[in-house]
Amino acid sequence: MRKQFVAGNWKMNKTVHEAYDLAIELITGLRAVRETEVALCPPFVALTAVKSAIANTMIRLGAQNMHDQDRGAFTGEISPVMLAGLADYVILGHSERRQHFGESDAFINRKVLAALRHGLRPILCIGETLEQNERGETEAVLAQQLHAALTGVAAEDATNVVIAYEPVWAIGTGRAATADDAQQRCAFVRAQLRDLFGALAEEMRIQYGGSVTPANAPEILRQPDVDGALVGGASLKADDFIAIVRAAKGNL
Ligand code: PGA
Repeated sequence: MRKQFVAGNWKMNKTVHEAYDLAIELITGLRAVRETEVALCPPFVALTAVKSAIANTMIRLGAQNMHDQDRGAFTGEISPVMLAGLADYVILGHSERRQHFGESDAFINRKVLAALRHGLRPILCIGETLEQNERGETEAVLAQQLHAALTGVAAEDATNVVIAYEPVWAIGTGRAATADDAQQRCAFVRAQLRDLFGALAEEMRIQYGGSVTPANAPEILRQPDVDGALVGGASLKADDFIAIVRAAKGNL
């Protein structure tokens, strides 16, 4: 049985103090949760503060991005060496990075390999745009992004990778995929993972992301191939994020 995994992507929100306070609020609300893995992904500058807030809890820490090089002349970037030992997870290939910062599949692949080399677990985001969806290209896009980003990942690392299926048209729009669609796409992703990693695909976690709310989470998280959620907007409100985590399998 895969343990469901709910991660909060705080994006470019919360000062260090606000991040610490939100983490403290979440700890209280999530204390009784045992059946779900939870990670908080604050901005880089708040990682240390949130790490101290969640010390001695089951909550994990994630970064939102990372460069692939260990060090060097990359002004403004954060390296895997800097995150190793600080964060457990790192979100890679988020559509906002692909869209606004021109990140290519090849760059994302190098980041995935660098993260694994340094003991960080990638949350690899893939997803189709509205146009691709309307042209019926969703599966082709997912397969292409997945295979490109996972090139060279060794079988022994496979279960350290989490996939987040995030249709771009659902992110921040209030228009989530239906639970049926989320299930179908996540099952397709798992079939691709089976091609890459064989039976290990059954142990790998696939999250759905895109306008997850307390209202739609129960149905989405009930789907057999949906192993959790990557939550943006709703992760900034303690009550909403707690309700989403509680909706995961085994907690109700
Ligand atoms: P959203 O964002 O929940 O605000 O749609 C999800 C994400 O970008 O990971």
